[in-house]
Amino acid sequence: MKPIKLEINYTEYSSIGEMPSDDQELVREALEAQKGSYAPYSRFNVGAAVRLEDGTIVRGSNQENAAYPSGLCAERTAMFAASANHPGKAMVSIAIVGGFDQRVATTPCSPCGACRQVMAEYQTLYGKPMRIIMFGTEKTWVFDRVDDILPFIFDSFNEK
Ligand code: THU
Repeated sequence: MKPIKLEINYTEYSSIGEMPSDDQELVREALEAQKGSYAPYSRFNVGAAVRLEDGTIVRGSNQENAAYPSGLCAERTAMFAASANHPGKAMVSIAIVGGFDQRVATTPCSPCGACRQVMAEYQTLYGKPMRIIMFGTEKTWVFDRVDDILPFIFDSFNEK
């Protein structure tokens, strides 16, 4: 028996201007994407933007439905659109923004577990780390790979 400690590294920014210009651009795309959110039930509007390895940016937003489980998060909408429309291109970063009634929260918008699992699969599929930018107007967190927000990733490709 031995206790083990897990360390997670991430970067915190206190304003969008402090971020690298590529990330600022992706956050702006996610803010644009948020405008397409359809969330009449939760009133929580989320926007996401995925950058592909060739620089293409794909947007997504959460889409709800009266039959609640039929809706989908912004991150998965964006990643599935990226995979469907640009198969074979690695997703190198994703920016996420959210807030009630089309506002943008001051704190980082953190993806749900199901979205993390989908990020993990595309990261494994393409063999390139996917950076995650959780935006908030007063605090933004940037993680360099999905492993940092989903330790012990389930990986059916790579049975150990
Ligand atoms: N939502 C997202 O789009 N992304 C997340 O990471 C968390 C939650 C959506 C789902 C639902 O439409 C609304 O936010 C409230 O949960």
